[in-house]
Amino acid sequence: MKTKPLGGTNVQVPEIGLGVWQYRGGVDPLRHGIELGANLIDTAEMYRTEDVVGEAVHGMRERVFIASKVSGDHLGYDQVLRAADASLRRLDVDTIDLYQIHWPSRGTPIEETMKAMESLVDSGRVRYIGVSNFSTKELTEARAAMNHHPIVSNQVLYNLRRREIERTLMPYCQRHAVTIIAYTPLDSGKLAGGRGLLSSRSTKLLHEISEQHGKTPAQVALNWCISHDNVIAIPKSDSVSRTAENCGASDWRLSVEEMARLDQAFA
Ligand SMILES: NC(=O)c1ccc[n+]([C@@H]2O[C@H](COP(=O)([O-])OP(=O)(O)OC[C@H]3O[C@@H](n4cnc5c(N)ncnc54)[C@H](OP(=O)(O)O)[C@@H]3O)[C@@H](O)[C@H]2O)c1
Repeated sequence: MKTKPLGGTNVQVPEIGLGVWQYRGGVDPLRHGIELGANLIDTAEMYRTEDVVGEAVHGMRERVFIASKVSGDHLGYDQVLRAADASLRRLDVDTIDLYQIHWPSRGTPIEETMKAMESLVDSGRVRYIGVSNFSTKELTEARAAMNHHPIVSNQVLYNLRRREIERTLMPYCQRHAVTIIAYTPLDSGKLAGGRGLLSSRSTKLLHEISEQHGKTPAQVALNWCISHDNVIAIPKSDSVSRTAENCGASDWRLSVEEMARLDQAFA
């Protein structure tokens, strides 16, 4: 499994991690993914999957990078501290590696939230601070609100069919060493084989390129995501075999020409 630096830190994270929103697979797919090098697991207080993540990493905590999130409804200073403590309890760990603001607040000033996030790092309960669903403007404001720790990541929607971030957010994150964690990288499974759901031209090309590489459409769709600088992807799967398939999206690369053809077909 190839890795990429997390933000401007010297920590390496796998280019394919394991998402656990609506996850019902138990510990086996997660443990298998970790064995294959997908040792970043992304959960959140609102997913109700922190307990299964804790169970899966039991006995191998030091090998796994755990990312969780505070809900966008809990962004007051005390609320953030309480949410983090509750996540630590459910995960049954001493530290969350990456703690992300799940979505921007509708009312709480970002300075107040970030003060709480930084205090979590200072007290050792969190290692790194990230955000999620932040626009370029919101990320700029959030970065300006930091006192002494950086924002290392922004988790956002990104896949072949959802390319909104390419215009300004992606270049901004690349310029400022903010890792993009691509969520829903398989477009909720549609890119993994749902032929009927894609236009015939793009589907045909995805399948054609998959066959040429001896890979599956899911692997090509994920490889397309992680072929972008600064981008890692976190597909979710309840199955051991599909988790292994998704891990097989790493360690090889689409050619520049194939990337361009996919870009055009899915434009
Ligand atoms: N920050 C946010 O606001 C936010 C929002 C959405 C998602 N996320 C994160 O991103 C993660 C992934 O996103 P997602 O769950 O929305 O969508 P996704 O990963 O694009 O798609 C998941 C769907 O694809 C299927 N699938 C996975 N691998 C497959 C394969 N190789 N072949 C065929 N089908 C496959 C899964 O079914 P099976 O499970 O049956 O394999 C599931 O139905 C989430 O778990 C979460 O951690 C974050």
